[in-house]
Amino acid sequence: MTFGDYQLEIYFDGLRGVIPNHPMSFAELESRARAALPPSVWSYVAGGASDEHTQRANVSAFARWGLIPRMLVDGSQRDLALDLFGTRWSAPVFLAPVGVIGICAQDGHGDLATARAAARTGVPMVASTLSVDPLEQVAAELGDTPGFFQLYTPSDRDLAASLVERAERAGFKAIVVTVDTWVPGWRPRDLSTANSPQLRGHCLANYFSDPVFRAGLAVPPEKDLRAAVQHWVDVFSNPLTWGDLPWLRSLTTLPLIVKGICHPDDVRRAKDGGVDGIYCSNHGGRQANGGLPALDSLPAVVDAADGMPVLFDSGVRSGADIVKALAMGATAVGVARPYAYGMAVGGEEGVVHVLRSLLAEADLIMAVDGYPSLSDLTRKALRPVCNCPAPV
Ligand code: FNR
Repeated sequence: MTFGDYQLEIYFDGLRGVIPNHPMSFAELESRARAALPPSVWSYVAGGASDEHTQRANVSAFARWGLIPRMLVDGSQRDLALDLFGTRWSAPVFLAPVGVIGICAQDGHGDLATARAAARTGVPMVASTLSVDPLEQVAAELGDTPGFFQLYTPSDRDLAASLVERAERAGFKAIVVTVDTWVPGWRPRDLSTANSPQLRGHCLANYFSDPVFRAGLAVPPEKDLRAAVQHWVDVFSNPLTWGDLPWLRSLTTLPLIVKGICHPDDVRRAKDGGVDGIYCSNHGGRQANGGLPALDSLPAVVDAADGMPVLFDSGVRSGADIVKALAMGATAVGVARPYAYGMAVGGEEGVVHVLRSLLAEADLIMAVDGYPSLSDLTRKALRPVCNCPAPV
């Protein structure tokens, strides 16, 4: 079985008159998700910072690079598996943290459905701090698939320590600290509808179930949601500095990965501070507009990481994008909005379909273009697309 065999499954189903329930193109996935989601959830998921220029640039950056096909290479066996942070991955692809994935599902339990999709596909999940169901329940659905816990570091250090301890106890295999979101970016789509899901009490289960958080409340969240949300507002944000890195490092013996790094100097400082992995991302253009597409930052980040694993996300919409990011030097590539849309369209099945489609497309590109193993995917496989006028 290869990932690409998903297409055979679909074609054989066709012989029985069965055609796919779920979209086969990103454009259709996006438009069906838009129709399926309540408008406020749609605009929160699809929207980004300011006029969303950086968000669009993340996507279009991939089109500026082309893979150079190589022929007469035996591509019949592809090898996408890798060992990362002490865990075995069947492919260098993971589910990036999406804090409202819970409410993208029809039943409001999208974190659990994502974990089940991870278990079924073997695609590792980075579970967000902002979830509908507590992290222990998410971890319990992962089966043998590795799960990482993404931490939004609260200003209350005891609460931060409690969340990390709980993640360790629940069986998460690494801690991913997001450092680009200590303050939310300027998001006109959400501002124009005055919509912040967390302020409405959504996706705060990890806080409301936490003993340290609860100890800071006069009455439990079940009795006074407003006061609990206010307490969350008071503790959510921690404007971390490099001076906090030793403390963050001291919180866990699990691999520590910093998410939101785009500058090579920041990579070196993080490495000096004892992190185990770098996560190159601009948060999908949701945080600051006017920046570089994340893909443009990737090569220098990889070079500065100097052998340390580099996770990457922002703008990945296809298997081709995954292959290009790997060729640029990413160790593994994160999928975010596509699986959120898959969740909206078809719940757990929708996420499984999106992941299997992305993996199949990446696998088949590696087969057709003559790069059958991950070690074949180097920068030599890529060339900038020439925008020169056609010769006359
Ligand atoms: C995110 N992202 C995110 N990141 C994170 O570290 N913790 C989180 O809770 C969330 N929540 C979240 C919600 C929604 C609705 C989106 C779309 C994104 C950022 C995410 O992990 C990833 O960096 C970007 O989504 C990548 O950009 P694309 O590829 O989705 O455009």
